[in-house]
Amino acid sequence: MKKEYKISLLPGDGTGPEVVAEAVKVLEKSSSKYNIVFKFSDNDLGGERFLKTNELVTKKDIDELQNSDAILLGAIGHPDVKPGILEQGILLKLRKEFDQYINLRPVVLYPGIETPLSGKSPEDINFTVVRENTEGLYAGAGGYIHYGTKQEVATQESINTYYAIHRCIKYAFDYATKFNRKKVTLCAKTNVLTFAHDLWERIFYDVAKDYPNIETDYGHVDAVCMWMVKNPEWFDVIVTDNMFGDIITDLGAMIQGGMGIAAGGNINPNGISMFEPIGGSAPKYTNKNVINPLACIAAAGMMASELGEENYANDIESAIIATAQKLNSLSAGKMGMSTTEVGDTVLNHLLNI
Ligand code: IPM
Ligand code: MN
Repeated sequence: MKKEYKISLLPGDGTGPEVVAEAVKVLEKSSSKYNIVFKFSDNDLGGERFLKTNELVTKKDIDELQNSDAILLGAIGHPDVKPGILEQGILLKLRKEFDQYINLRPVVLYPGIETPLSGKSPEDINFTVVRENTEGLYAGAGGYIHYGTKQEVATQESINTYYAIHRCIKYAFDYATKFNRKKVTLCAKTNVLTFAHDLWERIFYDVAKDYPNIETDYGHVDAVCMWMVKNPEWFDVIVTDNMFGDIITDLGAMIQGGMGIAAGGNINPNGISMFEPIGGSAPKYTNKNVINPLACIAAAGMMASELGEENYANDIESAIIATAQKLNSLSAGKMGMSTTEVGDTVLNHLLNI
């Protein structure tokens, strides 16, 4: 009996559909080798649909997505929609709706890929960021008084609950245990955020007591940025709040070779998780068959891992590494291959492993 997984596809905007198509091609044509069948369903959520219908996430979307084992997202973002609307109304809405409380972002430099950090090699750049994904500055707490006047006051509060911090930190230690990582570093700013991050720090060391074999470390976020560039080999698993996690993972994407290869998962360990390339919709490259699909294929690999198909996930990763080595560059338009050729190359490697 083959194992069946229902996958909701949210190709979204810009280059999203092109990269999702490559990931689907790879999965569809390789899954039987792993005794798996994927049932894909397509959803048209995104900026295009919003401009036509004014709809963001509807009850029907939620019902459809609810019925899947995982979600694969291409990109959300449209040049004709005011910034914030789609991000809040779709991406952040889905993360909250499905309680995807972890944003998991591996930062791995594959062999043969160029990093802007001189003298650093794949042994030096291999860590994972576990970002809290439901609250902090992203909670949406705040407001205006005297809007539009010179007396205006705007607040945006960082919400930090014991519940959300605890489950995030516990996830980081469990992740470290599962993948044989030696150290978990808390990235925060306890010297300034003396309430919120004091709570993070207390919970961190409290949870750590249950994992005596895992080393703990602490870095203020500004120093973590510095060390990520100077000594990335110091990191193994980094756990951090929503805003800091957002920022340091863009830095992480750059040191691993760029947005062309960076993937992430919005994880609910007991529910429906959503995987995405972290590069965005790249309107200027849309429909030119030049965007790099490796990040989306890597997101599909993370999805396989989350579904428990570790072997399949590892092989997808190997096929990505082999393909990446054949590209002139990971950047859109400079790969020396088209989007579809990159997808074909990954698939070929995967079928020949
Ligand atoms: C990301 C993105 C989002 C975030 C935006 C689009 C809301 O930057 O996934 O990192 O800030 O989380
Ligand atoms: Mn971001």
